[in-house]
Amino acid sequence: MADQFSNPLRRTLSDGIVPQEAVARTEKSWLMVMTAMLAVMMAIIVVTGITGALHPASNVEVIDPLTLHLHGEFVESNLGTAAGPDGSVTVRIVAEQYDFVPHCVRVPANTPVKFRLTSADAVHGFLLPATNVNTMVVPGFVAELRTSFAAAGEYAMPCNEFCGLGHQAMWAHVTVVPKEQFANMTPVERARCARQ
Ligand code: CUA
Repeated sequence: MADQFSNPLRRTLSDGIVPQEAVARTEKSWLMVMTAMLAVMMAIIVVTGITGALHPASNVEVIDPLTLHLHGEFVESNLGTAAGPDGSVTVRIVAEQYDFVPHCVRVPANTPVKFRLTSADAVHGFLLPATNVNTMVVPGFVAELRTSFAAAGEYAMPCNEFCGLGHQAMWAHVTVVPKEQFANMTPVERARCARQ
């Protein structure tokens, strides 16, 4: 009897107070709902990750943002689209306040394209709508993404990371040309679009 009163959980309840068993039952039900929601969200992440080829960066590549323009792969003459002897296509872009250099790049359709980007100043964003390409471009690091464009056309390339007062004006383009047309272009025509 004394024990019944010293243990607050076993005390006789006055009106309007929910017994412990009922609370435990409700908590258990909600726990199951929460677990189910977590499982659904995890499943969405895994399924979209696999079907949309979305993946976190597989490596960390560092670069000195202060000497980008002096030497290495991000010197101005090396920017834009380069086609390798094996048919591989690599696009190198420097993001800086407030533009992408080059402002417009040409790539072939239906071909694996590798984008390599870095920033000369602040953190920028690189997004190609309707593709799996979406990354932050952080000074000091090289961001690398692979994609392929199914159809020829013009893709907008907005900076989607607030980078300063000119952020909303930081847009560039990717012009996707048919594969055969790209094969007949000179390296200069490939590297960047004439229209600036
Ligand atoms: Cu660059 Cu926002």
